[in-house]
Amino acid sequence: MSGSSQVYRASTTAPVNIAVIKYWGKRDTALNLPTNSSLSVTLSQKSLRTHTTASCSESFSGPDSLILNNEPEDIQSSKRTQACLKHLRSLREQLEAKDASLPKLSKLTLRIVSSNNFPTAAGLASSAAGFAALVRAIADLYELPQTPQELSLIARQGSGSACRSLMGGYVAWRAGTKEDGSDSIAEEVAPMSHWPEMRALILVVSAEKKGVPSTAGMQTTVETSTLAPARFNEIVPKRMAEIEKAIQEKDFETFARITMQDSNSFHAICLDSWPPIHYLNDVSRAAMSAVETANRKAGKLICAYTFDAGPNAVIYYLAEHTHEVAGVFRSVLPRLPGWEGEFAEQIRPNEYGSLDSKALMTLKAGISRVICTGVGGGPEKIEKHLVDESGKVVRVEG
Ligand code: DP6
Repeated sequence: MSGSSQVYRASTTAPVNIAVIKYWGKRDTALNLPTNSSLSVTLSQKSLRTHTTASCSESFSGPDSLILNNEPEDIQSSKRTQACLKHLRSLREQLEAKDASLPKLSKLTLRIVSSNNFPTAAGLASSAAGFAALVRAIADLYELPQTPQELSLIARQGSGSACRSLMGGYVAWRAGTKEDGSDSIAEEVAPMSHWPEMRALILVVSAEKKGVPSTAGMQTTVETSTLAPARFNEIVPKRMAEIEKAIQEKDFETFARITMQDSNSFHAICLDSWPPIHYLNDVSRAAMSAVETANRKAGKLICAYTFDAGPNAVIYYLAEHTHEVAGVFRSVLPRLPGWEGEFAEQIRPNEYGSLDSKALMTLKAGISRVICTGVGGGPEKIEKHLVDESGKVVRVEG
């Protein structure tokens, strides 16, 4: 292919992560620096992932562009996307300055194409996987030598939670203390292989209206919640240490208790904000009640709920308790889509006798689909490109 029309491409997939210690609050909105550290489990990409191709060519003209799920996105007015692109370009420029034989990719227009393997309607936060995939794909296109940890600093500027999706397994985002944010990065606490038995059942609630977006909601909390300072300064640092130890020791009961406590603490500071922010609804509370019932029946903590900025429940449990946890939900919601696939294979319906009838009816009426998944690995480089050799965007079906 001739020099000027060559299309340079790199593709990656990146996972979703669900926090067990929540990030909620920024100490610097421009740099996207958090008020507290957080910790998440990276979920398997078989169920949830973003696939992104980054491409550039002298034959591309005009501004950088992004197509997400076949629709063009306005990235020119997105400060966060621009911050990521600027940072990645400057790293490429440094390489080009050191080695004159390298093609000047930093000067070329970027064409980025992205697609999610899960329905947008599911209301699952896709910004984490989205920005992680964007940063990883461009870093690969530019052949940057930076480690995932170093790249996490860039993804963080796109969306805070995205920095945790650059790694697999159990990942901490260290809040850091420096003003320039150079120590606010993600770090692997344990790889997936350390505790591969972790499962996650996601109950997707059929929400009629969208709640307060997280970026705006967390600032309301920082500015108005009287409880938030104790969470930021005392509660979370203590819990981070405790849950990291629990992960190292594969102590599920401690992991489960802290996960539930921290989700509740996050929703408590939301409610304590002014105007108050409500993310949980009756369906969420019925899911909490079902988790509590399963734990009571087992006589120990075998499952844990956690909720992000919306009503969907994520329930963590270990593979050995599939029947007592996921099996119960399968009995309640047998006809919903999602009871298939790799992590769903062993899930057989289990009787749900002690679940009170009100919780049961609320769950049946309010959940539209389930996703059966588990802990997974970090971004993967793939050869399936969403931009063809001539630079044409490949339409994604499904
Ligand atoms: C409740 O990462 O979406 O999911 O940095 O403003 O893009 P921005 O926020 P975002 O917030 C995620 C909040 C959360 C908790 C978490 O994932 O830790």
